[in-house]
Amino acid sequence: MDSILIRGGKPLSGKLPISGAKNSALTLMPCALLTDEPLTLRNLPRLADVDGFGHLLNQLGTSTMVEGARPEDFGRVMTMRAARLTSTEAPYDIVRKMRASILVLGPLLARAGEATVSLPGGCAIGNRPIDLHLKALEAMGAEIELAAGYVKATAPGGRLPGGSYVFPVVSVGATENALMAAVLAKGTTRLENAAREPEIVDLCNCLVAMGARIEGIGSETLEIEGVDRLHGATYQVMADRIEAGSYACAVAITGGSLELVGANAADMGATLAALRDAGVAIEEKRNSIVVTAPDRLGPLTLSTAPFPGFATDMQAQFMAMLTLADGASLLTETIFENRYMHVPELARMGADIEVRGRSAVVRGVRQLNGAPVMATDLRASMSLIIAGLAAQGETRVSRIYHLDRGYERLEEKLQAVGADIERISVG
Ligand code: UD1
Repeated sequence: MDSILIRGGKPLSGKLPISGAKNSALTLMPCALLTDEPLTLRNLPRLADVDGFGHLLNQLGTSTMVEGARPEDFGRVMTMRAARLTSTEAPYDIVRKMRASILVLGPLLARAGEATVSLPGGCAIGNRPIDLHLKALEAMGAEIELAAGYVKATAPGGRLPGGSYVFPVVSVGATENALMAAVLAKGTTRLENAAREPEIVDLCNCLVAMGARIEGIGSETLEIEGVDRLHGATYQVMADRIEAGSYACAVAITGGSLELVGANAADMGATLAALRDAGVAIEEKRNSIVVTAPDRLGPLTLSTAPFPGFATDMQAQFMAMLTLADGASLLTETIFENRYMHVPELARMGADIEVRGRSAVVRGVRQLNGAPVMATDLRASMSLIIAGLAAQGETRVSRIYHLDRGYERLEEKLQAVGADIERISVG
């Protein structure tokens, strides 16, 4: 199994390109199921999960074609066409490996009037139910049956009537599924307390480009007037705000200055505010963000929250950064109940972190020391890379298949800005 070897302590400097957003890509790709015309996505990141989603679409009868990608390019262009659906089922084997597969539920139901999707089950960062996805679809007129580990959703008469739903808590995935189901409904759908994440805005903009009628984009109330059919479109995936934030933490902790090319400051308010509070200098440019490390980082008090709050997907990377801050930080995770699996690994490198329920107290230490560590999920893996870049000596991060799911050519990007990092392939 591959691992990543880092010899830490080198400041980062130069330009680092930011890829298309994984979380956006995986919600834009299922839009291809909503029309018999081609959907072309530009700036799709080259990631294992994007390939995996392509395979799932293939199984449902969608052709996928990748254009003009030279090996040295970041990102690629993919054209997907679901001229005719050949299946409406997402099987256990695929959903188990890639949770985002659940996002075919809404579009299959909208286009074919039925969908059968395996329940995703638990996951490393906690219990992640899909009850809100199902309740929103039911409110729009779907009939839902649960049997043998599968959800079967049906639209009586082949097409959803549409309806109103107030989300009791903000859910990114449930908002996405409901949106994709609503665009082809017979009537109007109103979603209240909907997620407002930039990836939701990206999804709405793509659906509008395909002919959908959506009001309130970017707000917590979305009103969708169903249309009879959607057409094809060409759409550019937004920049990955989590990738950009991760590299910002990396430069903040190692010293130096990085220009994150393609990053969009407008999507990164809470992350950039937190970095500034820690003493990091941030310069927002038209198509990039320049991040410059202070001599010593200050401590922070942060609590994760739905957008525009501080993202749960940035918690682990900030924790790694704050292990070297001058003082004690307090981090609170409010979205997932088990998202501190990086803590014992960071402790192996000399970090001083105490978890108390949903909160973690991070007392800054003078130095981290390299150690063999193991990644447990995507963002936790990145936190270990960040710590390894700052640590004295060698850090070997294993189980890096998590990183390949979410960071396009991580070691190549970091090598180019001065990190001593390499992938070790075994077997
Ligand atoms: C969540 C994050 C998203 C992040 C992603 C991957 C939020 C609001 N969402 O999105 O930013 O990119 O993880 O790390 O920060 N819930 C239910 N029932 C449901 C769906 C969700 O109870 O049917 C709960 C979840 O357990 C969680 C909260 O609602 O506590 C938000 O979950 P949700 O936004 O749906 O999760 P993801 O879409 O995976």
